[in-house]
Amino acid sequence: MAGSKALPTFCFLLCAASCALAAASYDYMILSLIWPGTRCQPGWNGKPTCCVDPLIDNPELDFLVETMETYDSATGKLVAKCEPSCRFLINPLADLMDDLYAYWPSLSCPAQNGKQVWKDAWCTYGNCTSLSEVNYFGRALQLRARADVLHALGSKAIIPSETKSYSLDDIEDALVSKIGFSAVVECTTEMGVLSGKYLLSRIRICVSADGKSLITCPFSRKSNCGRKVKFYPFTENMLGRPRHPAADHIELPSDKAMAQ
Ligand SMILES: *[C@@H]1O[C@H](CO)[C@@H](O)[C@H](O)[C@H]1NC(C)=O
Repeated sequence: MAGSKALPTFCFLLCAASCALAAASYDYMILSLIWPGTRCQPGWNGKPTCCVDPLIDNPELDFLVETMETYDSATGKLVAKCEPSCRFLINPLADLMDDLYAYWPSLSCPAQNGKQVWKDAWCTYGNCTSLSEVNYFGRALQLRARADVLHALGSKAIIPSETKSYSLDDIEDALVSKIGFSAVVECTTEMGVLSGKYLLSRIRICVSADGKSLITCPFSRKSNCGRKVKFYPFTENMLGRPRHPAADHIELPSDKAMAQ
């Protein structure tokens, strides 16, 4: 008669599982890091596609945080916009501002300070977590630094290059040896000059619900890249403004020199 005792327990577990499903609560996150060398490729007309507010420092020449999304591992679906009346305050982030400008910038044109980008991340995902603003943003930045994707790739001689392509296998191996099975590599295929080529655009990294650790992804997702991947350099002149005011005053060759 052992079965009759087990049955209520079984029913209870079943209910607990389906109730959790109904609530669609987040239980892990994905930190999305973009490679600005791809994001900021100039447009077909040579115009910059990335812009940074002249009043703030340029972002670092590194993988940058795009957002940190909340997911439900029971369904594998995004959990987003949990509160219609979301409030985003900038003051709690005062101590993080330098890091946010450096590693979580707004890149869209025309240039903006990052506030809209951070508000969107907070009100779409952060507010669905159990984290405070400071912990949501602070931990995302810490994990970006811990994953240290640029160095993980560099240590396997995968460095940004205009001419080289790298094998997707090598890129994935370099990431696995640094952060385990937490990462998915994403590419875009460009039109125009780079037509038909796969460009490394994002590394998406699975993160525990508390934002403290990198975890093996609950759903193994395949990369959308081809076997050969371009890893274009990111340079500051992609940002729609020179870094040094002096660069405004570079002397063009004289008419005479041009005529020779
Ligand atoms: C999400 O927003 C609501 C409404 O502003 C607030 O009551 C709640 O505490 C927020 N959640 C978090 C994790 O801050």
